Amino acid sequence: MEQLQQILDQALQQFAAIGDETELEQVKAKYLGKEGSLTALLKGLGKLSAEERPAAGARINQVKQSIEAALQQRRDALQQNKLAQKLAAEALDVTLPGRGLGTGGLHPVTRTLERIEQLFHSLGFATAFGPEIESDFYNFTALNIPENHPARAMHDTFYIDPQHVLRTHTSPVQVRYMEAHQPPLKIISPGRVYRFDSDATHSPMFHQVEGLWVDEEISFANLKGVVQDFLQRFFERDDLRVRFRPSFFPFTEPSAEMDMSWKDGWLEIGGCGMVHPNVLKHVNIDSEKYLGFAFGLGVERLAMLRYGVNDLRLFYESDLRFLKQFN
Ligand code: FA5
Repeated sequence: MEQLQQILDQALQQFAAIGDETELEQVKAKYLGKEGSLTALLKGLGKLSAEERPAAGARINQVKQSIEAALQQRRDALQQNKLAQKLAAEALDVTLPGRGLGTGGLHPVTRTLERIEQLFHSLGFATAFGPEIESDFYNFTALNIPENHPARAMHDTFYIDPQHVLRTHTSPVQVRYMEAHQPPLKIISPGRVYRFDSDATHSPMFHQVEGLWVDEEISFANLKGVVQDFLQRFFERDDLRVRFRPSFFPFTEPSAEMDMSWKDGWLEIGGCGMVHPNVLKHVNIDSEKYLGFAFGLGVERLAMLRYGVNDLRLFYESDLRFLKQFN
């Protein structure tokens, strides 16, 4: 029975050295399986005499129980280990401060556009849109700027091909809208426009908001009234210094440029005028019966004035230190 003690010692040693549950089950078979060493001893009992058998059987069973208990203990320990490892790997320190996503904000030009739209909506203007890649016809010809007219040179145009341009202003939307709608009509049209231009008050891509009101009795006084009213609300001031300066646009007659006081002088914020009869003729609107005014405001210029920014290009440098100031 010395052999029994040896088997037990060996089993205990082996179990303690195993770090994996599957391996443990495989080693178990070596002792308790069909071909296992203890099973062999139990089978051998038959060869003993009737006197010896009970005591030997009892001892073998004792060892068997010890082995089973050791096995179970090792199983539990391995499972505990596994759980502890899993918990450690998934540990979450709830006391750490959150990473935070940071709050985004609207670009100051977007804010300005939204504000302009909201104010014109409250004055009864609807919004219309037009394409940024525009045909030469809508950008120029239909606006009373025929081919070879020197006024084409007033805009530094980006050509896509000989017939298509990146629109240089939002005025083509006037024509597109009037082709599809009869008066009375009262719209604004915000959007991006493009010109080969860059300095403190010019950028190659900028925004305009076009305005158009056509009805039976529209006058230049209405134009001044609407623009003045809009500007007072936009800047939240009654004492604004706005100037209408006579100017020339082929698609309005008379025409004016609108300036606002800025630094020691004036900053041009837009062009305007009474819709030229030739433009109305193009879209089959009776210019004897209907009159209209139109304007085109420079959105970045309004943003500069409102926020006190002295170089328009800052809006497009994507410098968060600058942009964050507006949120
Ligand atoms: C026009 O574009 C006319 N379509 C405006 C108009 C509409 C007149 C309807 C009559 C009737 P002008 O080229 O002046 O006009 O541009 C209008 C405004 O856009 C300017 O007053 C200015 O505020 C702004 N602007 C012009 N070029 C730039 C630029 N490169 N960067 C930023 N703003 C600009």
